[in-house]
Amino acid sequence: MVNDLISLADLTGDEILELLQFADELKALQKARTPHRLLEGKTLAMIFEKPSLRTRLTFQTGMFQLGGSSVLMDMRLGERESVPDVARNLDRWVDGIMARTFSHDHIVELAEYASVPVINALTDLLHPCQILADAQTLREHRGKDLSSLKLAFVGDGNNVFHSWANFASRVPLNLTLVCPKGYEPDMNLVSRAQQSAKGEIVVTHDIDAGLKDSDVVYTDVWASMGQEDEALAREKVFAPYQVNAALMAKAKPGALFMHCLPAHRGSEVTSEVIDGPGSVVFDEAENRLHAQKAVLATLMR
Ligand code: CP
Ligand code: NVA
Repeated sequence: MVNDLISLADLTGDEILELLQFADELKALQKARTPHRLLEGKTLAMIFEKPSLRTRLTFQTGMFQLGGSSVLMDMRLGERESVPDVARNLDRWVDGIMARTFSHDHIVELAEYASVPVINALTDLLHPCQILADAQTLREHRGKDLSSLKLAFVGDGNNVFHSWANFASRVPLNLTLVCPKGYEPDMNLVSRAQQSAKGEIVVTHDIDAGLKDSDVVYTDVWASMGQEDEALAREKVFAPYQVNAALMAKAKPGALFMHCLPAHRGSEVTSEVIDGPGSVVFDEAENRLHAQKAVLATLMR
């Protein structure tokens, strides 16, 4: 197992599945209120350059449940001192670093200069912890073998989609991105993922073809953190890609609806869908806790 969690592409399929299995075990222990203080006396530094509800609450609560503690820092990396110097300082005090950054290079640099584990809690490029929680959720609802499933990601080819592509390159699953023209993902990342994927990874602009036979419909905000200036322009371009009842009807009957949250109701998804019977969005949010505890306990033990 690697020392850090920067990208799911750095892990093997078996390592990802071990993390998911461990997440299930930790969830059962927590539900039974059985103590599992695997990180007794250990400390996690949490750096946030961007806002957060789920990530912040679940990492902090997760460290507490594992018998450790966390320190929160709202800061911009590389402004007051260099990223390597931040890493070298933290290295002397804490047992792990979790960071949510704008620049992906900054988290790579943190990992390079810190000897303690560094965990990616979202960058402009990737959001691996989200996809671990989502995969745990999918396995709960559709069984542990995901290989026959088709997940249609509708919307922006963004950090969350990139991490889904990395996941699909390691764990068999069919993945289709349905996005407007001009909002494609990083196609180098996608072609690398396609080369090692066992299932299909497809990028299309065609809503009907993309949704056909899909078991899961996933969406995310149209403008990610840091893209607020583009929000108005994106509203127009993405409007046909709104996940509403008509769009869900193009997927398989009984398809699941997933969203990493926060959701903008009335934009990328309607309340009818997110509050509907197929929606598992709060299961995903809950599993952030359990999946990240698996990551923390694996890397920091
Ligand atoms: N999904 C997710 O990462 O949520 P937060 O931005 O609230 O942490
Ligand atoms: N793509 C979104 C995900 C939020 C959890 C963003 O980066 O803002």
